[in-house]
Amino acid sequence: MTAVVGRLLHRDPYSGAAHSRVSLETTMFEELPILPPDSILGLAAACRADPNPDKVDLTIGIYMDEAGLCPVFEAIKQAQRSLVEEEQTKAYIPPQGDPAFLDGMIELVVGSEHLAARADSVGAVQAPGGCGAVRLGAEVLKASGTGGKVWISDPSWPVHVPLITSTGLALSEYRYYDPQTHGVNFEGMIEDLGAAQHGDIVLLHGCCHNPSGADLSREQWETVASMAVEQGFTPMIDLAYQGFGEGLDADVYGLRLLLSNVSEVVIAASLSKNMGLYRERTGIAIFVGPDARTAEATVSQAKAAARRNYSMPPAHGALLAGRVLSNVRLRSSWEAELATMCERINTLRTDFQGRLESASGRDFSFVARENGMFSFLGLTVEQARRLRSERSLYMLDSSRINIASLNSDNMDRVVDAVVSVL
Ligand code: LMR
Repeated sequence: MTAVVGRLLHRDPYSGAAHSRVSLETTMFEELPILPPDSILGLAAACRADPNPDKVDLTIGIYMDEAGLCPVFEAIKQAQRSLVEEEQTKAYIPPQGDPAFLDGMIELVVGSEHLAARADSVGAVQAPGGCGAVRLGAEVLKASGTGGKVWISDPSWPVHVPLITSTGLALSEYRYYDPQTHGVNFEGMIEDLGAAQHGDIVLLHGCCHNPSGADLSREQWETVASMAVEQGFTPMIDLAYQGFGEGLDADVYGLRLLLSNVSEVVIAASLSKNMGLYRERTGIAIFVGPDARTAEATVSQAKAAARRNYSMPPAHGALLAGRVLSNVRLRSSWEAELATMCERINTLRTDFQGRLESASGRDFSFVARENGMFSFLGLTVEQARRLRSERSLYMLDSSRINIASLNSDNMDRVVDAVVSVL
């Protein structure tokens, strides 16, 4: 379809006189397709718009407390108060990121033991959230020019797909979750990853697998580490839930095992969940390589990728996290509060399992076995949609729920609704 889009000013090339002329053109966005809503954010928005006062939102991965609020950590509140008091400028922070944040995060994730062994070979760049870190990691992997592909778990966090493929890297899936056992299909995973080769990247979830909650055991991590060594693929770890599984150090067991064995590891870590800095977009891309030159190269590439995408990192969340990680008192307050959240999620898991089992007579023991915020309830897409339309209970189409959104007020309603569609 054509439309008159306006009068353009036309200058005569000889006389220089200006004339206006009507342009008949297709408008720029006239045929632009309207995309469907995001598979997670769209459902959270649908729940917000639902007028039912008894609605329950189990869609997005946000930690909610007993009152149904996403709390600000006490340590973050204190760091924020002192930051507001002391901050002298809003000038850019360094493009690589806030130094206290970078040091604190490298120590938190990589650990002091590994740092002592290979400090020079670790490079890190602050990123806008874990999402930004995955993207920076993927851009650096793409720039390495090996032509390899990225292996992601089936299923994985849906945003991994556009974040990685938009850099031009190709994707392959490896089997990961077995809906029959509600656990990891390790045989399938190993069989599929048998085809991963030097130059390929294998994306692993450090802990609290999103969306399944099913994690690798320590023995399984060992097998994956041996495969990485033998086959020469590069592991990339998405670490969005450190501290929500078995503890801050236990949750990076697999990651640190890889660091001990494999010469190159890429890590995308987020503080959205474990410091509650969701809206502050606070993450980090860490590149551990064989030597200092490689670390410098990866950092230079990640900084260039940041510059061409969004230029500078957002400061506020990183400045807060840097303060929390480097101050003994704030750090122990943060760790204690995080441990309390993790315990509460585990209690919710046991409670939910018990209530589902007594209401349905079916086995829901997997709910209590899993880690982190998520669990698949094993419902069909049709059942998940019925729960939305008939009971205002919102979960993803895959029946992924956020356990951390359950509380004593909504638990019975959720159990009753789920059992009604079984
Ligand atoms: C989720 O999986 O729900 C979270 O990681 C939030 C998001 O951005 O998708």
